[in-house]
Amino acid sequence: MSNDKQLVIGLFGFGVVGEGLYKVLHQTESLNARIKKVCIKNANKKRNAPDELFTTDRDVILNDPEINVVVEVINESEPAFYIVSTALKNGKEVVSASKKMIAEHLPELLKLQTETGLSFLYEASACASIPVIRNLEEYYDNDLLHGIRGIVNGSTNYILTKMFEEKLDFKQALLQAQQLGFAEADPTLDVDGWDAVNKWVILLLHAYGVVSKVEDVLFTGIQNIQGADATVGREKNLEIRLVGQAKKLQNGKVAAFVLPQFVKHDDHLSFVKNEYNGAVVESSFADKQFFYGKGAGSFPTASAVLSDISALRYDYKYEYKKLYYHQPNELTTDYYLKVYLSFDDWDFIPKEKLEWIEEWHAESDRKYLVGVVHANELKQNNWWRENGTSLILSPEPIIEDVEIRKLKKKSLELAGLNIN
Ligand code: HSE
Repeated sequence: MSNDKQLVIGLFGFGVVGEGLYKVLHQTESLNARIKKVCIKNANKKRNAPDELFTTDRDVILNDPEINVVVEVINESEPAFYIVSTALKNGKEVVSASKKMIAEHLPELLKLQTETGLSFLYEASACASIPVIRNLEEYYDNDLLHGIRGIVNGSTNYILTKMFEEKLDFKQALLQAQQLGFAEADPTLDVDGWDAVNKWVILLLHAYGVVSKVEDVLFTGIQNIQGADATVGREKNLEIRLVGQAKKLQNGKVAAFVLPQFVKHDDHLSFVKNEYNGAVVESSFADKQFFYGKGAGSFPTASAVLSDISALRYDYKYEYKKLYYHQPNELTTDYYLKVYLSFDDWDFIPKEKLEWIEEWHAESDRKYLVGVVHANELKQNNWWRENGTSLILSPEPIIEDVEIRKLKKKSLELAGLNIN
């Protein structure tokens, strides 16, 4: 496709993102792109665009030889996969924002790109307006990237901000996130961490060449976080965020999780509030870099879709360099995490599963402790998310095996024990 070629777009979905894109494209005449047809599910809904633009028959777009670009921004994952895969097979370039669908179908989507040689771009699927996928793909070479931490779900970040800074209750904050169009159609996808982990699976591919599934990543959402947790945080000068993290360990493997985390006030992520997203990348020589921007909403998401459409003019494709040109990295759960756990009853906590406990408070109704636990224990078991127990990582939570041996030795020595 040369850059003077007209992009004729078939758009799937005219919700928050689809309508946003329609408006944004109208304000971007220089792009030489036009929407020829929009496929929608419900023909009876009133739309802010001419009637003749719409169809409910997906084949009208998928089989139209004039349409050379399919933009897919629908909610349901399986129909989205059908649309994207059929469009690629039919010779069309594809732009998508469907994070769930992409995270669930990485191997098939990688194969289709190789087979067809066509572009499949999805910058809007993670961190919406922030160009984090393209940066991970293009800028950070395999050996350069030490770690990435990010807030990738706008709704949960919005809820945490409103609950702890404006004292709204959970339901009110969630309702606002829904009204503003940030939340998923099923908001438990946001609240329970599914949306964030879907995005993290996508980012792991571009950061480290890891082709993973949601089940491979340790995760939860903000469903069990309570006001008492924020109070403890305030006493310690810490704020709560839902953070995705990936780090290359000393053994060369990658630790990856999406969990609530206490962040210090001088952490870049503490600056990320409301529906904003942010990512801190740590790399050799450059030290830390911070990406920040709106992670949800109509125009911010449409802007990322628009940027992908624009990149098609230059035949831009993801090369998946970390996957194809390097030894791909492997995920591991063989490391330890420093955690804060709050709970109503000591019996809910299997204390023997913790490597050690360094702080505990039992005086009020909501009790808590700070301790160290093996990541695999959390990955394999559910006690830490049951009975209303809330787990929040400490700042800098990862402790590697070598470090823990030293720490254990020291604590036993301090206790006057001989450990040879
Ligand atoms: N529900 C998502 C969020 C929308 O809150 O981040 C953007 O992907």
